[in-house]
Amino acid sequence: MKKINIAIDGPASSGKSTVAKILANDYGFIYTDTGAMYRSVTLMAIKAGVAFTDEDALVQLIHENAISFKQTDQGQLVFINDNNVTEDIRQPEVTNNVSEVSAHEAVRRELVKKQQEIAKASGVVMDGRDIGTAVLPNAEVKIFLVASVVERAERRYKENQSKGIMTDFQTLKEEIEHRDLLDSTRKISPLKKAADAELLDTTGMTIQQVVTSIKEIVEKKLAEI
Ligand code: DC
Repeated sequence: MKKINIAIDGPASSGKSTVAKILANDYGFIYTDTGAMYRSVTLMAIKAGVAFTDEDALVQLIHENAISFKQTDQGQLVFINDNNVTEDIRQPEVTNNVSEVSAHEAVRRELVKKQQEIAKASGVVMDGRDIGTAVLPNAEVKIFLVASVVERAERRYKENQSKGIMTDFQTLKEEIEHRDLLDSTRKISPLKKAADAELLDTTGMTIQQVVTSIKEIVEKKLAEI
């Protein structure tokens, strides 16, 4: 398999990370969850008592702490320095504030630099909101995943149930809608389909069907380059 970069963007809970992980595993590529990086900065701010509005202090936190990923048998783990924060960055307090943190230009500049560094070696599947438009504008394959908000809330609801987390469906749906609105209307690199990205509506599709569709797109691109 030729080493290429695959950019997967889309709104909250559209299944990006699930399919990106499978693709990276099948192709032997590196998976990079850029949302986890913005979530890590948000968690740092909560722990350090830094206001989500304080751009300079947020950048300082990025400079003072190392965010890293580790591949293990239990999947990819996220670390801030030596602390495993894989679970902590999924807590509601992080989820409900990450859009505010990620809207700062200087925060994005710092994290985009790190993301581009990771992708330099090629053979990366990277998911986020601005990968096809800003982080990897030259990615060989760009996918924009969408799904109806009801289906996305249902997926998240079932996922929470399976983890024993009790959530209210309506609240979950409203939180997803709110985050999508903030992410797609912010000034810097908003959530947006790149002009050359393939739009894939996964409403009613299984994970395996989504993976198969993306692999067909990858095969087609590989035949062209
Ligand atoms: O993919 P996720 O839900 O874990 O992302 C969390 C938040 O991080 C998302 O609401 C917006 C922000 N984000 C971003 O601004 N740019 C990215 N490339 C990835 C995530």
